[in-house]
Amino acid sequence: MNINKNYENLEQSYLFSTIAKKVNEYIKNHPDKKVIRLGIGDVTLPLCKVVVDALHKAVDEMGVQETFRGYGPEQGYDFLREAVQKYYKTHHVELDLDEIFISDGAKSDLGNILDLFDKDNIVLVPDPVYPVYVDTNVMAGRKVVFANANGENEFLPMPDKNIKADIIYICSPNNPTGAVYNKEQLKVWIDYAKNNNAIILFDSAYECFISDEDLPRSIYEIDGAKDCAIEFCSLSKTAGFTGTRCGYTIVPKNLDKLNKMWLRRQTTKFNGVPYIIQRGAEAVFSEVGQKEIKQNINYYKENAKLISETLKKCNIWHVGGKHSPYIWLKCPNNMKSWEFFDYLLENAQVVGTPGAGFGQNGEGYFRLTSFGSKENTKEAMERFEKLFN
Ligand code: MLT
Repeated sequence: MNINKNYENLEQSYLFSTIAKKVNEYIKNHPDKKVIRLGIGDVTLPLCKVVVDALHKAVDEMGVQETFRGYGPEQGYDFLREAVQKYYKTHHVELDLDEIFISDGAKSDLGNILDLFDKDNIVLVPDPVYPVYVDTNVMAGRKVVFANANGENEFLPMPDKNIKADIIYICSPNNPTGAVYNKEQLKVWIDYAKNNNAIILFDSAYECFISDEDLPRSIYEIDGAKDCAIEFCSLSKTAGFTGTRCGYTIVPKNLDKLNKMWLRRQTTKFNGVPYIIQRGAEAVFSEVGQKEIKQNINYYKENAKLISETLKKCNIWHVGGKHSPYIWLKCPNNMKSWEFFDYLLENAQVVGTPGAGFGQNGEGYFRLTSFGSKENTKEAMERFEKLFN
């Protein structure tokens, strides 16, 4: 037996596991302190009522002979795929049902999709970036090159003609920086991908935070995207499904082979999202569901606003928070990311995510999330003001 040696090229532990370990150790040694977690982007508001009602109803159905369900279609039930199809229509994107694949979340599919690609492909990833893109490719032994995101390009790198990439990751609104590409910028990426015969893996997990009608929520709003892009979305942040698990991946039929290959992969390795969960997800797309989730998203946006206002008062440079739940800030006093993480935990008992964990260009930066409760966010910001104002 030979192990996959590529794992030796990974960081020792996944970014958010490292943080959780550090925080738990701190709590163990300081049981009297109240730690406020604004680190991992995990939601805090409960599921919407309409979703909970749908889940209850589906549970009841599973307990009755006539409505009990066993294995479902691996790519998702039609009722949910139709709901997703209708949702895309609201941003003027037409999809066929067999382009929609229901998943247990964007993270899994972003990793699993790599089954379709040869090891020799060159992968282009923005830096800083959600660590899953890099780690899943390192596990497969693929070469990763980076597109520099920094203050100069407002954390929105554009293609470099001198770099030939086969697989391109784009996350917009971006995790961790909160930056969002406009349609013209995405068109440049689409043209670049088509010229290089490359594929774009477009992560739109934070699309529901976009407040400006003109900004694209889906890459398919731009001409040509169906010829070169796969889109991943999730109900985790949209509807509080981080623990419930449901998302969707769009593999256009224009990508003929890939659409068929993904179906082949999923039918072989995946048995679908539970019926009960899919009924809950369907309710998210109902009229009432859309209204209810909007209230929750607005709640988080208010938190983001408060964080941003506090940072302004403290003269701390930052971006994001407007079309995204993340605020990306420059560590005060030129501290390094992990140094600031420790400083903040020690002195304010506030947990954030060190920018360096998202890539080299993240060094010296720090990410805060607006997914905490209003009370905790307020308290965390009061502590910030005491330290830095
Ligand atoms: C994050 O904090 O970056 C996200 O919550 C991670 C994820 O969605 O897996």
